[in-house]
Amino acid sequence: PETITVQELGNRMAERATDVIKELMKLGVMATINQTIDADTAELVIQELGHTYKRVTDADVEQGILGVEVDDEGDLATRSPVVTIMGHVDHGKTSLLDAIRSADVVRGEAGGITQHIGAYQVNLKSGNKITFLDTPGHAAFTEMRLRGATVTDIVVLVVAADDGIMEQTIEAINHAKASGVPIIVAINKMDKPGANSDRVKQELLQHELVVEDMGGDVQTVEVSAKAQTGLDKLEEAIMLQAELLELKANSDRDAIGTVIESKLDKGRGSVATVLVQKGTLVVGDIFVTGSEWGRVRAMTNERGQQITEAGPALPVEVLGLNGTPNAGDDFIVVENDAKAREIAEYREQKKKDLAAAAEGRGSLEQMLAKL
Ligand code: GTP
Ligand code: MG
Repeated sequence: PETITVQELGNRMAERATDVIKELMKLGVMATINQTIDADTAELVIQELGHTYKRVTDADVEQGILGVEVDDEGDLATRSPVVTIMGHVDHGKTSLLDAIRSADVVRGEAGGITQHIGAYQVNLKSGNKITFLDTPGHAAFTEMRLRGATVTDIVVLVVAADDGIMEQTIEAINHAKASGVPIIVAINKMDKPGANSDRVKQELLQHELVVEDMGGDVQTVEVSAKAQTGLDKLEEAIMLQAELLELKANSDRDAIGTVIESKLDKGRGSVATVLVQKGTLVVGDIFVTGSEWGRVRAMTNERGQQITEAGPALPVEVLGLNGTPNAGDDFIVVENDAKAREIAEYREQKKKDLAAAAEGRGSLEQMLAKL
């Protein structure tokens, strides 16, 4: 719970502490100058003394400490879309991603072993770049959403043309809707004899997804991951949707991103896959993520190559963390160690306060149980 000392409350209103104490007495609260009172009581005192107030949220405090800048419209430039592929089990999500990746012009040159990384950017012949989040599983997607992390611009919903809408298809539709993320439907396995895309479209209608053929605005693309057909159309659909969303970012500022996944690597220590969303992340940058901070020691792309800079919509593996953050944690570059430490400690304290509050409730329940 939020608290403030009598002294501090007086200072903020430019009132003497004794006057605050008098008001408190009227409310039946006996307090000394160094005592803390809760936010609700403080609110009453503020009103009594004829002041206006605004409750400061944790986010306000963090913003204040971090000094996060707001971008000027003029500094924004178009960025690549970030796409998550979702769908029912075995409908071909991984196959479709593999097919798209095999069209990656840069990957062709590298030809090396592709390391597994939960996100990667595909460079297409057309010059377009699209960032794919290797379906983190619906559970991870939900967790990220609960933590307020919105990293996906577009959901590509894969539906097998011979199977139609299934349980996890519906789940995916609900997740996308709850996040307000537009859906493009990839009707996969069109090479199969039993393929019936019309039936899929009909079924989508029952879940309030009205496809373009039926006068709605949901794009559908018929594809086959196996026969590698319809992939260009899918790319076009994604780029069209991206254009409608007017995705923009300022690349010329300190980076802000989100942790997609993290792991403990035997040789390299803690490794986090970070999707840069604004600005450019540079080796040597000092960052805060969750309640931890550190310095970027090295960065690698999904091909395992060392890179020194990562701009908006680029996912990178970051080395230099002290622990493993959670998927959905923010990743913010700050000016110096002091700021990083301050925000990390602030967040750590918040966590402890919450835990203590939860424990307090527990003991009260135990007490009541004994009565
Ligand atoms: P999970 O990760 O288990 O949820 O499955 P997934 O959605 O990633 O499906 P996956 O790509 O593993 O494909 C499932 C099966 O469908 C595999 O046997 C694929 O070979 C097959 N498959 C995928 N796409 C196509 C396609 O376009 N045509 C045909 N005929 N089979 C396909
Ligand atoms: Mg898969």
